[in-house]
Amino acid sequence: MHHFVYRDKLLYCENVPVKEIAARVGTPFYLYSHQTLIDHYRKIDSAFKDIPHLICYSVKANSNLAILNVLKREGSGADIVSGGELYRSLRAGIPPEKIVFAGIGKTEPEMEYALRSDILMFNVESSQELALLSEVATRLGKTARIALRVNPDVDPKTHPYIATGLSEAKFGIGSDEAIKEYQAAASLPGIQIVGIHQHIGSQITQVTPFQESLEKIANLVKYLKGMGIDIHFLNIGGGFGIPYRGEEVPVPIDYAQALTPLIRATGCTGILEIGRMIVGNAGILVSRVLYRKSTERKKFLIVDAAMNDLIRPSLYGSYHEILPVEKNDRELEKVDVVGPVCESGDFLAKDRELPMLQPGELLAVMSAGAYGFTMSSNYNSRLRAAEVMVKEDQYYVVREREKLEDLIKGEERIP
Ligand code: LLP
Repeated sequence: MHHFVYRDKLLYCENVPVKEIAARVGTPFYLYSHQTLIDHYRKIDSAFKDIPHLICYSVKANSNLAILNVLKREGSGADIVSGGELYRSLRAGIPPEKIVFAGIGKTEPEMEYALRSDILMFNVESSQELALLSEVATRLGKTARIALRVNPDVDPKTHPYIATGLSEAKFGIGSDEAIKEYQAAASLPGIQIVGIHQHIGSQITQVTPFQESLEKIANLVKYLKGMGIDIHFLNIGGGFGIPYRGEEVPVPIDYAQALTPLIRATGCTGILEIGRMIVGNAGILVSRVLYRKSTERKKFLIVDAAMNDLIRPSLYGSYHEILPVEKNDRELEKVDVVGPVCESGDFLAKDRELPMLQPGELLAVMSAGAYGFTMSSNYNSRLRAAEVMVKEDQYYVVREREKLEDLIKGEERIP
């Protein structure tokens, strides 16, 4: 469910024609729907209403302050993986007591920053990290609340680059070692055990891998509690998949029905680190056709957005639906939609059937709200795109398009 729909052949975001925004803001730009964000957040929140829970929106999916702000007002916390994401979350006004900090490579300054900010907890991923955290907390006279990230060794059946819960992954602590690590944590100064964490991967489109891993984790919680280690929070991670081409995927209530009994049985408060399901289909990337070009074997549509704007097709071979911003009944043709970047891997779609589009016309790359702008770069010294949010019949530029001066910021010195 989202609020990008055609009315009289024109694509709208809520009550604003996309074409109108493009005329004012220029292209390419990311476009987010305020109402879609809220709808998605509320659906997840209400699906889990029968158990105490906290949604910690996964900031890496889309870290724009406007997005964080909307979610904060809905009551969301934040799942962060860097000092930068902590900074953004605090700037957006997300209360520190709703912030959880994951990642295998937290640095000492990041630990200090998070401890001073008094965040809810660190999701610790190794014994060396745990030792350093204990040291830093003690030095600051603080207590670090922690969960250990346990690797449940389940196959989430997603793209290998975004599967994280298999035993060969670099993430988390093996379930066998977890008990030993919890015992070690219990005796470390400056450390307070409050929870357990798992995250098995992203864009998962089945409920079973979650069920399977949660069963393992729930058993572990029971065991730990028996040992006198109090686990108050059970963080099930993120990874709920979304439809990219209209396919049927589980909806929040499906996950909730399968998972709430397991969480409830542990007596824990559930934490959900959802990114993609909240923002993915709440955003699109709008681009303009620059040229058409045919070679002996292919037709290309050269557009003004590129892999530096949206890297998912190049990196994972991901499919993003592409729609003309103005519907037409021209004949369909098979084209590669490519950007101006000097790499053959720079494409947004391959062999895609689209109604013939001419230079100057606009297209929308759908489902681009998650891992779109946050993974964008300045490659080829391209300016990062503007970001715009529509709320009802108004649009707001929530991040200005970069300027040429931004490209050389901090490059004053020439030896
Ligand atoms: N929690 C942890 C510890 C994570 O590592 C992630 C995502 C999430 C939560 C949120 O997962 P989500 O609900 O958004 O699936 N760049 C890739 C996705 C990478 C996901 C990384 N971790 C993509 O574009 O598909």
